[in-house]
Amino acid sequence: MNLTPLFLEHLKVRLAYAEKALAATGFDGLVISSGAPFTYFADDQQAPFHTVPHFRHYCPIEGPHHVLKLRPGERPQLIRYAPEDFWYEQLPLGAPFWATGFEITEAPTLDAVWEAIGKPAHSAYLGNETERAQAAGLELNPASLTTYLDWGRSYKTPYEIQALEAATALGAKGHIAGRKAFLAGASELEIHYAFVQAVGCLDHQLAFGSITALEPKGATLHYEHKRSYRNGKVLLLDCGARVRDYASDITRTTLAPECDARFAGLLKGLEELQQQACAALQPGVPFGDIHHQMQLKLGSLLSSAGIFKASPEEAIERGFTRPFMPHGLGHHLGIMVHDVAGRLSSPDGTTQPPPPEHPTLRTTRILEPGHVLTVEPGLYFIPMLLRPFREGEHASRFDWKLIDELIPLGGMRIEDNVLITASGNRNLTREYLPN
Ligand code: GLY
Ligand code: MN
Ligand code: MN
Repeated sequence: MNLTPLFLEHLKVRLAYAEKALAATGFDGLVISSGAPFTYFADDQQAPFHTVPHFRHYCPIEGPHHVLKLRPGERPQLIRYAPEDFWYEQLPLGAPFWATGFEITEAPTLDAVWEAIGKPAHSAYLGNETERAQAAGLELNPASLTTYLDWGRSYKTPYEIQALEAATALGAKGHIAGRKAFLAGASELEIHYAFVQAVGCLDHQLAFGSITALEPKGATLHYEHKRSYRNGKVLLLDCGARVRDYASDITRTTLAPECDARFAGLLKGLEELQQQACAALQPGVPFGDIHHQMQLKLGSLLSSAGIFKASPEEAIERGFTRPFMPHGLGHHLGIMVHDVAGRLSSPDGTTQPPPPEHPTLRTTRILEPGHVLTVEPGLYFIPMLLRPFREGEHASRFDWKLIDELIPLGGMRIEDNVLITASGNRNLTREYLPN
């Protein structure tokens, strides 16, 4: 696929938005670093390098210390850090699909990079090479500009949507392999490697540390350990791939045929509820309303399964559903897995906090075309969250015997990546992973 036209259109849109952001926040120019790598304290080892997301939004070049210089009305400049090096491989630039978008200067040293930047007047800087930026007279990471740019990151261009779709297609391949390994009795470690092998990347190139959880470990929401225990009854696999640094974030819960029928019934109910929530995503709808509807439906699912006795409304009012689903329905997805601006209500930094009954909701935005979000209801049996209810005034409303029988199975989550379109939505994940 020739990505050049898609990318050049993306760059044009992004530069026009940056120009608007600079005008709104009182700057004449913008300098952005791809970033300095992070070295562990008292160690000589570096963390896997992650490009500064603000930089990545304009330019897909890999590696640290490159700098972009943007000035309204001018062609964007990329100062490419290109040292001669025999310790680490430094590949030549070649002719990548995006190169014609920039005026490219090669700089063999950090001093040369920053000499090429010069001292642009009234300009802002985004990144972590702050000593260099300060010496260049730049205003460091101004909050007003950062917020304005964050807001813009929610509106994905066709280039970004192509990357997100490719990341979800790749993630789906990993999930198919991971599920197959689980059903053949594989351990968490073996399932993880089946995923990574199908995606064809290194661990640190996944969208995030994979959550490969058998049975009770599914109740630790960000469980990242990998046990060698085999032949589990429940697999909660939450893992995504990256394409050009855009992430997918997909979860599937798979049961072995001999899994407890009551747990299987809840999973079937959660799957229906997840599909209803996905279908409800459309422009003009506050994401928080869909979360609220999902909590009501979770209340009915739990009460019809006999977990507690309460109407859906009362279950929400008394917080009965919260220990079973202690996270929000989803989040924006982009360069970051938990993408920025979920609680903004305007580019000027005004925020929309979550309502008191749903404090963990990450996204309170009203949906608009071009937004991409995850939809990921879950249902978990988490002893520490259940304890206050077990010991509280409404304890008799819960069936603790049933709950105690389900606790060893951990939990379940189903997560798709959904694009909001002008007329509704496209579930990117189901196109590649129907169930
Ligand atoms: N993978 C973390 C999440 O689903 O938000
Ligand atoms: Mn996830
Ligand atoms: Mn997620």
